[in-house]
Amino acid sequence: MKQFLAFGVTIVLVICLYKSWGSPTNGVSHYAYDDGDGSVIGGEDNAAIDQKHRRAGPSPERLVLSVADRSGQKQQPNDDAAAGRPGPLDDVELALAQSKPQRPPLRKGAFVAGSALERHHVPSLNDLDPDDLDHESRLNELHEAKRQILELERKIQELEGRIPRKYPDVTFLNYKNRKRILITGGAGFVGSHLVDYLMMQGHEVIVADNFFTGRKRNVEHWLGHENFELIHHDIVNPLFIEVDEIYHLASPASPPHYMYNPVKTIKTNTLGTINVLGLAKRVGAKVLIASTSEVYGDPDVHPQPETYWGHVNPIGPRACYDEGKRVSETLSYAYAKQEKVNVRVARIFNTYGPRMHMNDGRVVSNFIIQALQNQSITIYGSGRQTRSFQYVSDLVDGLVSLMASNYTQPVNLGNPVERTIQDFAEIIRDLVGCKSKIIELPAVEDDPQRRKPDISRAKKYINWEPRVPLQEGLMKTIDYFRKELARSNHSQRNIFVPETTEFRSLL
Ligand SMILES: NC(=O)c1ccc[n+]([C@@H]2O[C@H](COP(=O)([O-])OP(=O)(O)OC[C@H]3O[C@@H](n4cnc5c(N)ncnc54)[C@H](O)[C@@H]3O)[C@@H](O)[C@H]2O)c1
Repeated sequence: MKQFLAFGVTIVLVICLYKSWGSPTNGVSHYAYDDGDGSVIGGEDNAAIDQKHRRAGPSPERLVLSVADRSGQKQQPNDDAAAGRPGPLDDVELALAQSKPQRPPLRKGAFVAGSALERHHVPSLNDLDPDDLDHESRLNELHEAKRQILELERKIQELEGRIPRKYPDVTFLNYKNRKRILITGGAGFVGSHLVDYLMMQGHEVIVADNFFTGRKRNVEHWLGHENFELIHHDIVNPLFIEVDEIYHLASPASPPHYMYNPVKTIKTNTLGTINVLGLAKRVGAKVLIASTSEVYGDPDVHPQPETYWGHVNPIGPRACYDEGKRVSETLSYAYAKQEKVNVRVARIFNTYGPRMHMNDGRVVSNFIIQALQNQSITIYGSGRQTRSFQYVSDLVDGLVSLMASNYTQPVNLGNPVERTIQDFAEIIRDLVGCKSKIIELPAVEDDPQRRKPDISRAKKYINWEPRVPLQEGLMKTIDYFRKELARSNHSQRNIFVPETTEFRSLL
């Protein structure tokens, strides 16, 4: 019996041992629980399972398990979510979300929340949120910008309409004969006529002007022409350009203008002239200096030849101009002697014509404006003082002839036909056809009593003398001033373009 009991205990122990030792499926652990299709894989080895997984690809659940395994935690995925901690499932969800096509970000207010998440909402004015109002104001800004652009386009068209499409006739000069010519003060009265002449001759013209007394509209008929350039520049500062010839005209010329800022007038005629002569020296250009009959002051020699040294008050109200021009001449001959600069000096006498300033206080412009407005014609002093006036195209012919000549001494350019101021007043009144009275006012300090050029030098060395009769020149000037007075806004143009026949050497 004892033997039988021992055998039974042994059998039981063997069975228990067998159970506790386990079956071959134990090593698979829970990897083998499910293949994703609900079937149990028990009994397969790891290699077989891996191969099956490779063929089928990981299911989301298997991905969850593999992530859990990677993190070394064999917990259920939902444990972390329940605990509110980021767990392996978050990684998976992230991976799944990233694998989905991304929707563009939705603008707040463009969709209604809830089940109709993607239903488009058309806002009415009442339920607009601040972003919609912002959108509205941007739309308004856009409309305003569009309106302003249209307005600008209209203005550009108007401005383009002002610039003449057709330029005055210009002779074609080939490269060999065409010069590059600088005119300082070229936007002024005399300078702008010189521009016309040189442009019509076919040269390249550069104007440098600070517009103190000059105006852009004096040369506006050349703006945009390939041979023309306008530079806003004050000649008291150096100018660096390449040119063949320079006409130095920059300086206020009428008493109210040059007396307005006497120090600046002196600077323009001294520092400005040094800059021009320095430029001429650097580039080897020929230079013509516009001097004046004022260098003779109140003359005690009559008529005035170039050899007369003058009678100038060095501290009077006109001295800034008179002495400034005298220094300008002195500088020219110093540069000629010391630096071998090729200089010409023109002593210009009273000149008149279209584009003169309306109110610069000069005799001709004063008398014409007063007569055209039927006002009294005012004479300073007795009216017996004399003047001789040349028309501007005659002066331009003289300047160009002097520049072209080999003559280097100063040359008077003026009309020797002398008249009293009283005579001028009566001639102008008759030409305008008005009934203005002629009245006398007190004489002006340092006003010269007689002024008449001796032009024998000009006749002899540059074959020049004025040609335009007084009445003819005055009629052109009166016509110009009449049109000027008729202007009431900027779009009414008064562009004076001289006939080519006005210039002797263009005939
Ligand atoms: N018109 C005459 O009767 C007359 C007589 C004698 C001499 N001049 C001389 O002829 C020249 C031209 O005279 P205008 O009657 O044409 O005078 P204007 O005043 O009409 O022209 C002078 C020009 O020079 C410019 N200018 C003045 N200072 C300048 C500066 N610092 N830098 C650059 N530009 C400057 C002005 O803006 C203007 O365009 C002047 O040198 C003047 O002294 C003229």
